[in-house]
Amino acid sequence: MDGNGRWAQRKNLPRSEGHNQGTKSARAIVEESRRLNIPYLTLYAFSRENWTRPKEEISFLFGLLTRFLTGELQTLIKQDIRLNILGDITDLPLPARKAVEHTCSKTRSCKSMTLNLALNYSGRFEIVRACRLMLEQGLSPVEVTEENFNNYLYTAGQPDPDLIIRTSGELRISNYLLYQSAYSELYFTPTLWPDFTPEELHLALEEYASRQRRLGGINSL
Ligand code: IPE
Ligand code: MG
Repeated sequence: MDGNGRWAQRKNLPRSEGHNQGTKSARAIVEESRRLNIPYLTLYAFSRENWTRPKEEISFLFGLLTRFLTGELQTLIKQDIRLNILGDITDLPLPARKAVEHTCSKTRSCKSMTLNLALNYSGRFEIVRACRLMLEQGLSPVEVTEENFNNYLYTAGQPDPDLIIRTSGELRISNYLLYQSAYSELYFTPTLWPDFTPEELHLALEEYASRQRRLGGINSL
């Protein structure tokens, strides 16, 4: 979800206004994904690298997250959407951490869609963490397999992403789902996140539908 700051800058507004507007996009995209019966949606909300931002912006972002989760809880339950976190939330400011834990626990048994929120997330860290967990559990080298590795990632039990969308014109993966994205289709759009509407999501899905996913095999046509 990139481009909130630039969106605000272009309108001569403070960056915080871009983040505010970004939560509106997030709400609309979650709602539309649910309507389209997309079973897993992941939003990259805050990376481990984002801690280098000014502390005022960080505290604004976590305040916004807290308000967002509190405001959306009833909708999530009604829409049968389970919130799941990718990342380590122990470093979050306490109110945000509490809101996250509360929302996860209240939506635990929701089954129609999983909404992954990547928070304090880093793909490299996730891989290192998986290795550590395997060592801690005393796995022998032959037990370390590709199938098994999945179980030690934050996304344990979930399929790999079919499509990864990055907004705001940056052509980078930025430490996102590094292990899981091996065969994901990538979609880049210059649209800034606050302008990313359900119509834009439809464009991305249409583009995805036209791609040939060979998964390392040969073209079937
Ligand atoms: C994405 O927008 C939101 C977060 C990373 C929290 P940015 O804040 O990165 O916006 P730009 O890249 O400065 O435009
Ligand atoms: Mg950015």
